[in-house]
Amino acid sequence: MAFIDTIYARAKADKKTIVLPESMDKRTFAAAEKILKEGIANLIIIGTPEEIAENSKGYDITGATIVDPFNDPNKQKYIDKFVELRAKKGVTPEMAKEQMEKDYMYYACLMCKCGDADGAVSGATGNTIRPALQLLKTKPGISSVSGFFLMEVPNCELGENGLFVFADCAVNPDLDSEKLAEVAALSADSFKSFVGAEPKVAMLSFSSYGSAKHERVTMVADAVKIANEKYPDIAVDGELQLDAALVPEVAALKAPNSKVAGKANTLVFPSLEAGNIGYKLVQRLAKAGAYGPVLQGLSMPVNDLSRGCFAEDIVGVVAMTAVQAQDAAK
Ligand code: ACO
Repeated sequence: MAFIDTIYARAKADKKTIVLPESMDKRTFAAAEKILKEGIANLIIIGTPEEIAENSKGYDITGATIVDPFNDPNKQKYIDKFVELRAKKGVTPEMAKEQMEKDYMYYACLMCKCGDADGAVSGATGNTIRPALQLLKTKPGISSVSGFFLMEVPNCELGENGLFVFADCAVNPDLDSEKLAEVAALSADSFKSFVGAEPKVAMLSFSSYGSAKHERVTMVADAVKIANEKYPDIAVDGELQLDAALVPEVAALKAPNSKVAGKANTLVFPSLEAGNIGYKLVQRLAKAGAYGPVLQGLSMPVNDLSRGCFAEDIVGVVAMTAVQAQDAAK
């Protein structure tokens, strides 16, 4: 079964409620039709009657709950929650109301925060990450949210039969050893949840086991030490070059006796540039499926879309968000 079909099956088995705030975009409704028809999630769509009527033309969204942000009996509850969460940042009720009406992603995050939805997906037109960081914050004990891609490489025996987690590909431009160690732990959890196999985390560099000396190599080697101390139950090793991480014959030469080298399925990149470029290389040159970016470390599941996404991508991200919501409820 293709990776995404396993996710659809899991989402359908315990339906969660996901908010889609982008009623100004027709792709939302194309995706909503499929999600509702196939029973992947319950949906709340935020929009005015005019936005809904205009952009849902031709799509059957029977079963979706529509919330008009200008005429919602729950609105005051969300304004109050916004102020409670952001009063220290100077947010007043008037500012909260204005922000929620201007950017429905704020509305969506508040619905999640108040327990009226299990997760949210947006980003086809606007800003997803900042409202989620501001209002939902990280899980307890987590300092930074990061973003991974679940990569499905066709005809590939490496990783878990071609399945990998790549991170951080989406969020943190400024990584240090502590943050990198945390990305390793979060990515291991994400791999285990989405793939259902034991994660083997390679901390990537241009050096393997000290073959090069440079401050960026030291940064990754330090991250490995921190990860091994803080998360002794997770198989994390490095610093490793990509070939040593993936290919058993190269691993035997460059990192013999490693518990990860030659069998890595979770790749932690040393910078956002490397992660972002790396996933796109594999997606474009190996024609791999790239599911994400999926945010990890947030207190509730909220996920971003690429502005160039297709309706089918939105369906996939909604299903992954629903699976994260199932995990959060365990
Ligand atoms: N984890 C947790 N909280 C965070 C993080 C993080 N990684 N980054 C910022 N925050 C918090 C801040 O502490 C702040 O909290 P506060 O308002 O309560 O004080 C809040 O989020 C907002 O912070 P800002 O300063 O407004 O946001 P910032 O300027 O740091 O931007 C952002 C955050 C948007 C994630 C930024 O780091 C960014 O643009 N990252 C790169 C995103 C990107 O371009 N990715 C590549 C494209 S995606 C793709 O190709 C798939």
